[in-house]
Amino acid sequence: MNRDVIIRYQGVCKSFGAKVVLKDLDLDVYRGEAFCIMGPSGCGKSVTIRHIIGLLKQDRGSVTVEGHDMSTISRGDLRKLRARMGYVFQEAALLNSLSAGENVALPLRETTELSDAEIVDKVNAKLALVKVPDVYHKMPSELSGGMKKRVGLARALITDPEIVLYDEPTAGLDPEISASINRLMRELAETLHVTSVIVTHHVGTVKTVADRVGLLDNGRLNFVSKPEEFIHSTEPRLVRFLGDKLD
Ligand SMILES: Nc1ncnc2c1ncn2[C@@H]1O[C@H](COP(=O)(O)OP(=O)(O)O)[C@@H](O)[C@H]1O
Ligand SMILES: [Mg+2]
Repeated sequence: MNRDVIIRYQGVCKSFGAKVVLKDLDLDVYRGEAFCIMGPSGCGKSVTIRHIIGLLKQDRGSVTVEGHDMSTISRGDLRKLRARMGYVFQEAALLNSLSAGENVALPLRETTELSDAEIVDKVNAKLALVKVPDVYHKMPSELSGGMKKRVGLARALITDPEIVLYDEPTAGLDPEISASINRLMRELAETLHVTSVIVTHHVGTVKTVADRVGLLDNGRLNFVSKPEEFIHSTEPRLVRFLGDKLD
């Protein structure tokens, strides 16, 4: 099968001081697929996806996104590329001085000429999509952790990006809301062919959303496979990792 590679890591190494985080990481993500990254806390999952938007630069190897080498990309091309990407931060990372709705509106105000009324409509539609329909005028300090998380998700999706990076999108959400976020991620992949890279600890997310999944451990992605194979693998390392997550 000849599939279109949209994100490619080749021999990526990344250390912070003496701490080696990524060590010869290779990964191809195909256009339109949902790829899940699992792995123990602190193994480098967030570090891995930050390379895709140019928030971190590898020490060795290369990261290419849509054919652009992320370490040599021009500022202009990076800006254009970022406009096609959404990033759901692990911590919602909302600006505390702006209302929830204005946080979501920010990318539209920065990159489009839409009128205020059009922006408010679009923001409200995205807030409804992530099941926080009535929070436009609330300040971040008035929202629970889970609500902030969903506002962050709405902000990542507001420009209808082609690539979405989700860093633990369902962490801390109750099961019902998690299930609806999982369905939403799957729907975006299927109906809009969004390419998704999802960091998650939830087997439910892997089952519902992933086309492929891998375990990040010792600086590399291991056991990359389809969800069913991954979950039912008899590889001792994987069995150990999944142990308490399968019920
Ligand atoms: N900007 C940074 N400076 C120094 N160390 C960092 C930085 N970002 C991440 N690290 C370290 O890299 C390791 C991997 O972090 P991270 O990718 O956040 O883990 P996780 O898999 O839980 O997302 C951790 O030990 C973390 O402390
Ligand atoms: Mg993380």
